[in-house]
Amino acid sequence: MKVVVIVPTYNEHGNIVGLIEALCLQFASLRHDMNILVVDDHSPDGTAEAVRELLPRHPELRLIEGRKAGLGAAYIRGMTYAIEAMAAEVVFEMDADFSHSPADVPRLLAEIDAGADFVIGSRYVAGGSIPKNWSFLRRLNSLGGNIVARYLAGIYRVRDCTAGFRAIRVSVLRDIDFSRLRIQGYAFQVALLHAAVTDGARVVEVPVDFIDRTQGESKLGLSDIIEFVENAWWIRLQSAQTFIKFGVVGATGVIVNLGFFTLLLGMGLNKFLASPIAIEVSIVTNFLLNNFWTFRERETRDRVHIKGLKFNAVSLLSLGVSYATFVAFSSAFPAMPPQVPQFVGILPATLVNYFLNSYWTFRETEVSKNS
Ligand code: GDD
Ligand code: MN
Repeated sequence: MKVVVIVPTYNEHGNIVGLIEALCLQFASLRHDMNILVVDDHSPDGTAEAVRELLPRHPELRLIEGRKAGLGAAYIRGMTYAIEAMAAEVVFEMDADFSHSPADVPRLLAEIDAGADFVIGSRYVAGGSIPKNWSFLRRLNSLGGNIVARYLAGIYRVRDCTAGFRAIRVSVLRDIDFSRLRIQGYAFQVALLHAAVTDGARVVEVPVDFIDRTQGESKLGLSDIIEFVENAWWIRLQSAQTFIKFGVVGATGVIVNLGFFTLLLGMGLNKFLASPIAIEVSIVTNFLLNNFWTFRERETRDRVHIKGLKFNAVSLLSLGVSYATFVAFSSAFPAMPPQVPQFVGILPATLVNYFLNSYWTFRETEVSKNS
């Protein structure tokens, strides 16, 4: 398996050479094809020059350089290069400042070998840690970032959402449109994790000790924090929007259903015939609205005609559920105006419709578990 450890650098002259050497030492004991990709943004301290001097002696080492636009922008460039120019099958995210220990690389990779898609070097699972000497404010900041990511962005089951030490299967990255993440800075960590979780990636957290850097300084700035919170809100609004749209479509379906039903009754149609026709019409309008509005953004595996076929199957089932409810209620309460049992029938049918269409018809493309 071809593995590329991506190391973004900005003014890491005092760290990068030592890190590359320490990584190569670890690589010697691994049976995979291990490589390093340094993504430098023309660091004024000569980081790139130091890496360039190592290139002749290290065939597994690559360097790309770009304009400084933030940590996320650097990772997007690095991942794209690792996939397209290096044919990577697994990529690592790793800091250059020894906050992430090269000795932990084999443990993260072992989880990929065991079938995980997205492995996180986690400070917040049992056995992991942050430096003992961190001030209350620094702890609060790190904890706050994770609370925002978990409860605002909705990545509930991951403990360390902001970690920058990760091993990721390229099959997961291929399904993610980086430009849709809309980030430049450190918010990339949460945006990428959220996209992977949404796509059904198998996430595993491995405990690691985060070590404070001794050389150079952190590049995390105020604009990164602002973008971080903005990004979490954006993710939250996106999910709320889908839910609200579904509700709106459902409400129009009720109006279409009852409106058509009343219209057909007025035309003198028998209520037991008018009912399924009205149900079918509302199911069709619901599908069209959900397909071209609610789930427009979802990247579904199926072509439209397959989705149409699935929709027809779901429709038939929903129609059966709705009609059975109508017949049962009409027979039990014959004196009721027929609109009441017709309305009651909508409820169970909506549930069936929602779950089958959301998890089957419009299911987001699944990530292959092993490749
Ligand atoms: N190319 C490039 N461009 N590299 C960058 C940039 C950039 O704009 N900004 C930061 N880096 C590099 C740094 O040189 C370092 O190798 C790595 O990215 C991490 O940057 P630090 O500045 O050391 O980050 P940190 O220690 O504050 O944050 C760490 O912890 C966070 C969670 O608490 C990182 O691991 C983050 O990824 C993580 O989110
Ligand atoms: Mn750091």
